Amino acid sequence: MLLDSQRQDLARLAQTGRLRTLAPAAGRDFTSNDYLALAASPRLASAAAAALARGVPLGSGGSRLLRGNHSEHEALEADAARLFGAEAALFFPTGHAANLAIFAALPRAGDLVVHDALIHASAHDGMRLGRAATVAAAHNDAQAFADAIGRWRAGGGTGTPWIAVESLYSMDGDRAPLADLLAIARRHDAMLLIDEAHATGVWGAGGRGLAGDLHARPDVVTLHTGGKALGCEGALVCGPATVRDMLVARARPFIFSTAPSPLIAAVLRDALRVLADEPERRTSLHALVGSAEHHLARFGVAPGGTQIIPVILGDDARAMQVAARLRTAGFDVRGIRPPTVPAGTARLRIAITLHADEPAIAALGAALATTLDAAA
Ligand SMILES: Cc1ncc(COP(=O)(O)O)c(C=O)c1O
Repeated sequence: MLLDSQRQDLARLAQTGRLRTLAPAAGRDFTSNDYLALAASPRLASAAAAALARGVPLGSGGSRLLRGNHSEHEALEADAARLFGAEAALFFPTGHAANLAIFAALPRAGDLVVHDALIHASAHDGMRLGRAATVAAAHNDAQAFADAIGRWRAGGGTGTPWIAVESLYSMDGDRAPLADLLAIARRHDAMLLIDEAHATGVWGAGGRGLAGDLHARPDVVTLHTGGKALGCEGALVCGPATVRDMLVARARPFIFSTAPSPLIAAVLRDALRVLADEPERRTSLHALVGSAEHHLARFGVAPGGTQIIPVILGDDARAMQVAARLRTAGFDVRGIRPPTVPAGTARLRIAITLHADEPAIAALGAALATTLDAAA
C-alpha cells in the first residue's frame, strides 16, 4: 500500500531507538549554537528594522544568476572577504547548501578528497554529488591525511588532493591540527578546505575563526556559517577569486536555487560588525567555557576545550534517557546518537552559550551527577 515501506522504515527506526522527532525548545539553553546570544538580540533586531526601513526586500525574487542578485548580497560578500582576509567570498542560504556546492563543484574527476572521519554530514552529501574519489582519514590524525595522499599518488593519482576538515568539530568540540594539515597540503600541492561553522565568531583573532592568516592563501577555502555564533542564517565561502567564480559557474546548489534573503544578508553584515564592536561577548563566552570545564570536570571534560562539550555515555538509549531527564529538570540538553556520531559514542552534547551563566552551569553539573546516578 501507499507509504507502507515508509511506515516500516519509521517503525524500524523506532525499534532501534533511532527515530528522530521534533521537540520544542524549552528550559535553559545548553544545546543551541547561538553561542554569542545574538539571534534574539536588540542589536540584530535593529539592524533588521534599519534594513527594512531603507527598502531592503525580504525576498530576492530569483536565483543570483537571474534577477535575485541584490546589492546586499554583494556588500556582504565584500565585507566578509575583507574581514576574514580572503580574496573573495560567496553567500549561500545555509551551510549545508554551501558544503554541497563546495564538494560538488571544486574537486574534479581525477582528484582525491581526504576528509576527516568525523566531518559533518553536509560535507558527505556534497562528496556524494561530486566526481572526485573520496577517502576518510582518522579523526585529527594529520599523518593519516598524508598517508592517504601518498597511497593515492603511488597508485597513479595525478589530480589535486583536497584535505577537508572542520576547524572545531561540531559533536566533539575539539580543534583540527591546522598547522600540520597546512604543511601536508603544501608538501603535496593539496587544497585545504576548512569548515569554520563552530569557530566563527567565537575563536581566533577578532572572532574570525581558527584559520586566521590562512584565509589569504591561494590553497585554502573556508566556510563561515551565519546560523551559529552570528545569530542569523546562511553561509560564506571564502577563498581565492577563482573559487568564487567556479562556484558561480558550476555549483548547482548555487545556480538552481532562489538567492538568500537580502534582508538576512543585511543583518548578517551587522553580525559580522558585532565581532569587532563587541569583543566582550567573546570574552564572556570564553570565561563561561572555563566555568563549564570546572563544573563538568568530573564527567571527563578536559580543560582547554571549547564551547562544545561532549559527555560520552556510549549507549544510545541511555544518552537519550539522561538528556530527557535533564530536560524535565529544566536544562535543555540533547542526546546525540548514531549515525550522527559513531556507533558506541552516543553522548550528551552540551553547548555553552551566553544564554547560560555560572550558577546555571553549576546547577547543570549537579543535575547531571544526580541524573547519571539514577540512570546507572
Ligand atoms: C560543521 C558544520 N558544517 C556545516 C553545517 C551546516 O550549516 P547550516 O546549519 O548553516 O546548514 C553545520 C550545521 O550543523 C555544521 O555543524
